[in-house]
Amino acid sequence: MEIRELRKAFLDYFSSLGYKELSASSLIPENDPSVLFTTAGMQQFRDFYLRSSEAPAKKVITIQPVFRTSDIDEVGDDTHLTMFEMLGNFVFGESSAMKLKEAAIKEAWQLINTELKVTKDRVHATVFAGDRKTPQDTQSAGVWASLGIPAKEASRAENFWGPTGDEGPCGPNTEIYVDGIEVWNLVFNQYNQDRDGKFTQLEHQGLDTGSGLERLATTLQGKDSVWQIEPFIGWLRLVDPNESREARIAVDHLRAAIFLISNGILPANKGREYVLRRLIRRTVFLSRKLPELDCQALIGKIHSYYAENYQLADPVEILEIITKEKEQFEKNLGRATAHLEKWLETHRDANERQATELAFYLFESYGFPKELVFEYLISQGVKLDAKHFGELFTKHQIISRSGIDKQFKGGLADHNEQTIKHHTAHHLLLAALREVLGPTVFQRGSNVTSERLRLDFSFDRKLTEEELKKVEKTVNEKIKADLKVEKLELPKDEALKLGALAEFGQKYGETVSVYRVGDFSLELCGGPHVEHTGVLSKFEILKEEASSQGIRRIKAKVLD
Ligand code: SER
Repeated sequence: MEIRELRKAFLDYFSSLGYKELSASSLIPENDPSVLFTTAGMQQFRDFYLRSSEAPAKKVITIQPVFRTSDIDEVGDDTHLTMFEMLGNFVFGESSAMKLKEAAIKEAWQLINTELKVTKDRVHATVFAGDRKTPQDTQSAGVWASLGIPAKEASRAENFWGPTGDEGPCGPNTEIYVDGIEVWNLVFNQYNQDRDGKFTQLEHQGLDTGSGLERLATTLQGKDSVWQIEPFIGWLRLVDPNESREARIAVDHLRAAIFLISNGILPANKGREYVLRRLIRRTVFLSRKLPELDCQALIGKIHSYYAENYQLADPVEILEIITKEKEQFEKNLGRATAHLEKWLETHRDANERQATELAFYLFESYGFPKELVFEYLISQGVKLDAKHFGELFTKHQIISRSGIDKQFKGGLADHNEQTIKHHTAHHLLLAALREVLGPTVFQRGSNVTSERLRLDFSFDRKLTEEELKKVEKTVNEKIKADLKVEKLELPKDEALKLGALAEFGQKYGETVSVYRVGDFSLELCGGPHVEHTGVLSKFEILKEEASSQGIRRIKAKVLD
């Protein structure tokens, strides 16, 4: 069955069972800053497993594009794609685990067997074997036995799913295999796992299933590789009639780039933006071996295929972004190649260590993603020492932290106006916490973005409502007082003598910069900050929670 038909068969089948079709969520998770991308269909529904009354319906289905950076290096083989579409059916607030499992397994089996015409002899399942943390899933095993399908027991690593991020719903899962290929994962969210790894049984159980559309279609067509089925094979041949590995990567990366750009991401040096940059640069790099690669034509084809089902950015705009990045990288690539050629002439006897230093230079100076530098030099017959590269990288991070990147210390994500306001509010918050809770409070971690600020600090119990209110009030008073924010450059000892606060475990240079906010706060910090507190509007604490033993975490924001 073709991908298009399969997509429809899935939606029709579950709709007929009373599931409500919902739209996919963005590739950028909305309420989970701990992960870069949406990696599973359930992510947008996480909270409904804990509070099912908030769910838009008890039973829902989606087709969710998911993005797994962990798979990027595997791309080029038969099965991995950076971005794939995940079919999923979800149930929230079921009171009986047995009922949930029986219905879910039978529904999945009926789709595979009756609708998709897969015979029993091609199928087997796996179920969770149980361990010291949570018990064996005998219920799922029982359902499979009643259907006459063999079910093997497997360990936590394979058959227990979640949580995504540090905490959240999770549970045993049962996987369905066709011709030995895993095509469907059914997760029974029976537990909530907290940050300390503790499991609590959920009062109501939920279902989360996922089936990779491309893989299922490949298996149903009796093929071994996603690159043997439409539309992938068509795109691949367009790039290279010989269907090379490089062409697979180029198609995969451009396809993923189309989705990232459509989610508002632009190539740059950090986080999600860096992932996009890496995808484009790798494609440009490989395109030297792909004379027939015509980005415009390929983007046009991929775009029109997916535009049927997803809201995508304008293809002209996508091409422009990719082309701009391509041109910038090509310039660097040209210069780097010239540098390398010269180097090779004069360093015929270079050892691995010296070659690695060259690799690092190309990485640092020409913006070559690390894996490309390696690929490139190895293809030129140069031997490298990955461990030494790692050392140079760490050293570079330390140098840049005390140098040009100094401003980014304190966990600042960027330098936009709202981030800077949050940074100043962060200082006010720390000082207010010390005023309300006492001088045992020290900063133990921080992260500041334009959306919110996060402060981890030493304190051994949950804060009371009253304390939180008081802290919030204190910060707002200091904002109203319009205190002046000043930067001082001082020898470190002197700064500490003055009582400037430093984060525990952070390394600082001999001369430090210190920010003073009126006579309320004094902290070692690289900045930047607002000039006076009056420019901040209302400060609000969003959440107070445990971060780890003896450390509390507050998330807060300054209203826009
Ligand atoms: N969340 C599970 C997975 O990603 C099932 O949807 O495999």
